[in-house]
Amino acid sequence: MRKATITGLGKYLPEKEITNKDLEEFVDTSDEWITKRTGIKTRRFAADDVTASDLGVKAAEEALEKAGIKADDLDLIITATITPDMMFPATACLIQDRIGASNAGAFDLEAGCSGFVYGITVASSFIESGLYDNVMVIGTEVLSKILNWEDRGTCVLFGDGAGAAVLQPTEKGGILASDLGSDGSGGDTLYQPAGGSLKPASHETVDNNEHYLYMEGTPVFKFAVKTMGSASLKVLKKAGLDKSDVDMLVPHQANTRIISSAAKKLKLSEDKVYVNLDKYGNTSAASVPIALAEAEEKGLINNGDTVVLVAFGAGLTWASAVMKWNDLK
Ligand code: COA
Repeated sequence: MRKATITGLGKYLPEKEITNKDLEEFVDTSDEWITKRTGIKTRRFAADDVTASDLGVKAAEEALEKAGIKADDLDLIITATITPDMMFPATACLIQDRIGASNAGAFDLEAGCSGFVYGITVASSFIESGLYDNVMVIGTEVLSKILNWEDRGTCVLFGDGAGAAVLQPTEKGGILASDLGSDGSGGDTLYQPAGGSLKPASHETVDNNEHYLYMEGTPVFKFAVKTMGSASLKVLKKAGLDKSDVDMLVPHQANTRIISSAAKKLKLSEDKVYVNLDKYGNTSAASVPIALAEAEEKGLINNGDTVVLVAFGAGLTWASAVMKWNDLK
């Protein structure tokens, strides 16, 4: 049966590294608190004039090169982001134009930090149905531009970056199953209060810092602990697999305590869980593709391995996917 598989991966992290010590200079925080509560040590911040599409283009070009296809071979580009260049047009269209994907449709997908896993689920449906052969999914974020430096509970958590994957048809392995979930009743625990039709941007919304990311850490933490493990188990069951079959878990990189609780539910040893949030912090929709690209680059994912991707985020949303890995071309 025709399935979708990842044939190319790319990632891009801006050069500027901000350590916890750097943050101590202007936020009432400490390296000790951030490390202990989150696992984060450094993150990357894009320069002031750099946008989500700038980062996305770099990741996309690397993914195309690795897949050995040209931009005009692409049928569709899906970009997952909560920090689009503009409310509209879609960042996917800006990337489509800049990489020269002249035959591709393009749209943005908004599922918070679950966006990339949502994206590959949509992409694999297009491929499985036979409608498209070459689909690119990009997660790209410039979260540094929407952080409230007066809110120490959130501003220390996030970073900038982009990751991209090319998906193509396969007759063996590939994405075996995926599962998407949402609970909009928790939407007000993680959101950007102003700038949309509910509260258009005004002097007042800016004065009130409502154009920044707002999060209530504790309910989001509890939600994440609950969903990361259960979503992973659910997708394994859908694929007819057991937790003992998992060779590598690539989770959303938000907090080591959240990742550990998911690993515990799957009874996975540390070497079977990919973690890089110490280096990059939480890069939202970019976190899973950056982690996947890095794990593959390091040779930690090999032909035939069972790989689980799992994420949670604003919406609230969660998503999981299980793949039988096919080595990249
Ligand atoms: N530096 C130092 N102290 C801080 C701090 C910081 N950056 N941020 C908060 N604190 C303080 C609080 O003010 C509080 O002090 P108090 O006890 O005197 O009131 C104390 O640390 C504990 O705060 P709390 O919010 O209970 O900490 P926590 O253990 O819940 O950790 C988070 C906070 C944000 C790390 C945690 O809730 C979390 O990871 N939530 C999920 C976030 C997430 O994953 N978001 C991404 C969604 S995709």
